[in-house]
Amino acid sequence: ATVNFVTFDGEQVEAPLVEGQSLMQVAIDNAVPGIDGDCGGEAACGTCHVVVDQQWAGRCSEPADAEEQMLEMNPDRQATSRLSCQIALSDDLGGLTVHLPEFQF
Ligand code: FES
Repeated sequence: ATVNFVTFDGEQVEAPLVEGQSLMQVAIDNAVPGIDGDCGGEAACGTCHVVVDQQWAGRCSEPADAEEQMLEMNPDRQATSRLSCQIALSDDLGGLTVHLPEFQF
């Protein structure tokens, strides 16, 4: 299974879904451009922001409190914004598609 990242320029980048890893980790391991992950996955930096594709909006978990607080500070936040380090990958997320913001803050 794979996960798909769509860059701000519209380029599609596919990466293997590794069960148990976070979406941020998979992005870093596959050198997906546009995800920084400065805090290493602690929901503390906000530089792993992604916007979940509408088709997947209902299939990801809701942000937990720490994540919600980081998202609130992000001026680019959209309805389906998530911190990718807080999306734990499981097999049922095969094909998950997220969009990358223009900038990470
Ligand atoms: Fe820092 Fe996700 S890596 S909030």
